[in-house]
Amino acid sequence: PENGSLSIVVLGASGDLAKKKTFPALFNLYKQGFLLANEVCIFGYARTKISDEELRNRLRGYLVKEKDASPEKLETVSKFLHLIKYVSGSYDSENDFRLLDKEISKHESTTNTAEGSSRRLFYLALPPSVYPSVSKMIKTACMNKSDHGGWTRIVVEKPFGKDLESAEQLSTQIGGLFEEPQIYRIDHYLGKELVQNMLVLRFANRFFLPLWNRDNIANVQIVFKEDFGTDGRGGYFDQYGIIRDIIQNHLLQIFCLVAMEKPVSMRPEHIRDEKVKVLESVLPIKDEDVVLGQYEGYRDDPTVPDNSNTPTFASVILRVHNERWEGVPFILKAGKALGSRKADIRIQFKDVPGDIFKCQKQGRNEFVMRLRPSEAMYMKLTVKQPGLEMSTVQSELDLSYRQRYHDVTIPEAYERFILDTIRGDQQHFVRRDELKAFWEIFTPLLHRIDKGEFKSIPYKFGSRGPKQADELLEKAGYVQTHGYIWIPPTL
Ligand code: BG6
Repeated sequence: PENGSLSIVVLGASGDLAKKKTFPALFNLYKQGFLLANEVCIFGYARTKISDEELRNRLRGYLVKEKDASPEKLETVSKFLHLIKYVSGSYDSENDFRLLDKEISKHESTTNTAEGSSRRLFYLALPPSVYPSVSKMIKTACMNKSDHGGWTRIVVEKPFGKDLESAEQLSTQIGGLFEEPQIYRIDHYLGKELVQNMLVLRFANRFFLPLWNRDNIANVQIVFKEDFGTDGRGGYFDQYGIIRDIIQNHLLQIFCLVAMEKPVSMRPEHIRDEKVKVLESVLPIKDEDVVLGQYEGYRDDPTVPDNSNTPTFASVILRVHNERWEGVPFILKAGKALGSRKADIRIQFKDVPGDIFKCQKQGRNEFVMRLRPSEAMYMKLTVKQPGLEMSTVQSELDLSYRQRYHDVTIPEAYERFILDTIRGDQQHFVRRDELKAFWEIFTPLLHRIDKGEFKSIPYKFGSRGPKQADELLEKAGYVQTHGYIWIPPTL
């Protein structure tokens, strides 16, 4: 049943992810009426020995900022915090998990709705190294009591392994305990508003249908930039590098949505089938289609080895071997410590054939979706320069979200994910075979980087990255529009 007792267990309750993302997301769901006080109990689980009250106090500051703490807000926060119980235990003790199960069962027996159905959501806000043991404990001690109906679902987030082999090993371990419909793998980019909009745009608009192919599109860029470095995460980051941190998951997800064929329906399995199909059409990555970089100063972090070759920047061209995309380069670029902070998708169209405005024209048509900072999409197009002369200028049709949708708050990714998990909708989660296909594309390159066979080129903090990346872009056929800047509208 989709109602009745609901237990949400946040494992790793005292960690950063839980405090900054999981609990605030639960709070937002509560405020919007998605978590009902007469059904839900939220269990925080971690090793630290603290009381319910201490956990609540630790969380309070993450739920409401001091400066906007009105009495009403504080009351809502208090009501929410009262739904939270704390259970301390270790991540590999069956006994401790039995105690957790007892607490959950107690809640289930006192929740007098829908004849005591048993819905149990386990959110692993934990490092992946403990996923296998925690999953095993849940399976052994904490499954929903099936005679009462309901379900048990687990939520996990990357990194899922370091390469194909380790990812498959993890998948096999967890897959041996839970069925695929019980496993919710998060890629938080799939929760971004404009990423979710991609399928609607592509398949609900006549505009795009005939244009979205190799006959019209010259190249596609999917770009992620941050204007800060690894900021104290150097030790973690050095084990992974920018390809594992951003490209192999977040940007590849976006790639799938841009490049895949139309799914049979919006059913999660139909969508994920199409993603896997397009991933399988990606050709092996060629050396000449890769530029790696590392910002100067990265190795100053004491947790980073002095001789580290780990890339903090990468530009990689993917080539798709199918009827729609043969010959169209997909440039996936990501970097830390660059000149700006943004993420966007840029579809560049080919030149107009037999162009009678050629001598004046400033640039190609582009369709840009800005995922962050402020959501927007715009179409760059050539128009007549307003005035007496018959000259042309590059302009845009602009849909900037803040301007168009004044009163709409764009929900946080984690809110959607938790709600989707409760509802059993896996559309925005990564399926096991999809994850495998992701790793298949990047593992050969990653292994060569790990062995030091592929060098990262140094670049300046705050720059555009190595100049070789711009040369790669040019080689891929991208034509920059000189003199055109899109200015986000201000309100
Ligand atoms: C995470 C990466 O997955 O995404 C971080 O590990 C990165 O390195 C972050 O900063 C970016 O996410 P967002 O939502 O701020 O674009």
